[in-house]
Amino acid sequence: MNTAYGTVTPTIARDVAAIVGAHHVVYAEPERLAPYGRDESVEADGGRPPELAVRPGSADEVQAIVRLAVTHRLPITPRGAGSGLSGGAIPIHGGIVIDLGRMNRILEIDTENLMVVVEPGVVTSEINEALRPHGLFYAGYPMSLETCCIGGNVAENAGGGKAIKYGVTGRYVMGLDVVAPSGERLCLGGKLVKDVTGLNLLQLMVGSEGTLGIITRVILKLLPLPRASADLLCLFRTPREAIAAVPRLMTRTGIIPTAIEFMDRTSLQASCRYLNESLPCADAGAMLLITVDGNDPERIVDDYERIGEACEAAGAVEIYVADNRTTSERLWRIRRNVAEAFKVFSPHQSLEDIVVPIAAIPAMVEAVERLSATYGVPIPCYGHAGDGNLHATPVMNPGWTLERWRETLPRLLTDLYRETARLGGRISGEHGIGCKRKAYLPLVLDAGTLAMTRAIKHALDPLNIMNPGKIVDPEG
Ligand code: LAC
Ligand code: ZN
Repeated sequence: MNTAYGTVTPTIARDVAAIVGAHHVVYAEPERLAPYGRDESVEADGGRPPELAVRPGSADEVQAIVRLAVTHRLPITPRGAGSGLSGGAIPIHGGIVIDLGRMNRILEIDTENLMVVVEPGVVTSEINEALRPHGLFYAGYPMSLETCCIGGNVAENAGGGKAIKYGVTGRYVMGLDVVAPSGERLCLGGKLVKDVTGLNLLQLMVGSEGTLGIITRVILKLLPLPRASADLLCLFRTPREAIAAVPRLMTRTGIIPTAIEFMDRTSLQASCRYLNESLPCADAGAMLLITVDGNDPERIVDDYERIGEACEAAGAVEIYVADNRTTSERLWRIRRNVAEAFKVFSPHQSLEDIVVPIAAIPAMVEAVERLSATYGVPIPCYGHAGDGNLHATPVMNPGWTLERWRETLPRLLTDLYRETARLGGRISGEHGIGCKRKAYLPLVLDAGTLAMTRAIKHALDPLNIMNPGKIVDPEG
């Protein structure tokens, strides 16, 4: 790996300040730089601060900073809210962090074309707040939507809670403005539902984790806001029973639910404790939170009744219906906060993101239980069961030393990923590879795919300055 990067000298820092204004530059201030060295994947003492952090206000400024980085061969790490879960925003080679938080405007709500044009630093939930009065919505629904930024969602191709019915971020990305690693500006796609004009570089950028360019503007496709929705909370005695219901729901009811979320008892209880919430069902062994939506309220009732019957047939011991926004939001808030709760209560943990074909989820959950027993490591589990994406989360056995935990985790993860691959799965459904999973990628991608990934990266970023050290390294 070529590590011949330059360092950010006081002169370079002054040049950056001349581009954006001194007020938007952090340099030589370790305490203010430290938060730019972390994302949500690292423990409190982890991370690696950059030499300089800058908050540009426009694409022109981003371009000027990238050009400077090219001249001095400085690593650049783009950053949104820092809510990522695979180390994508950690500047592991130092250099410059480009914080896109100031570029946070909704530029246009185009009701004629059913598109919205936004800057990358817009907080994801704000998009739907702005769209609601127009009877429209953007279908991306990452669990961190109240804090994450849309640019990060695009860079990671975020998934979330509604992927079964609506798909993931990439399905809605129609256009992107990007500053390439060379400093060139690209305008990819547009307000076009169909477009095969040239290679699909637009979707190459989606999910490239900031390694191929910096997103400065996003065009998203919108949908009419469904007029009705309802949630079912289905309680089961055991995680296995709950999970066994999922493939059946998907294949035997004739209904595509909007969401089928899974939480085992530990996940549910942790989130309730974190939020100071109480649910009558917190003692259930596991639960499914199932959403249906559409325009016909009668059809919604029919759908959730049929899903309820299927859950009962699969062993659900209790089923609650939430058909108003307040109760629905209360349930979803509990679901959305599981990861944060674990982070607070179990600081030594590894939030995993395995994904398998839906028919293989029961086998995957059994494999996770087996690994937990073999290693003596608790592995609570929750996630987007309806699309096969499970957040198995090994947490340090409370009786262990930190040293033993750190020595064991890589072996446990290797076994977990091998098991996932055996079932036809992959090691990340939505959080990405970043630096967290880079070493494990060869377990699931063949040599040709890895070589092509490196070749693309090298062709677009020969200096290896754009978010280096993520997904793959240049060689080896
Ligand atoms: C969730 C995040 C961790 O599903 O992806 O809660
Ligand atoms: Zn998730």
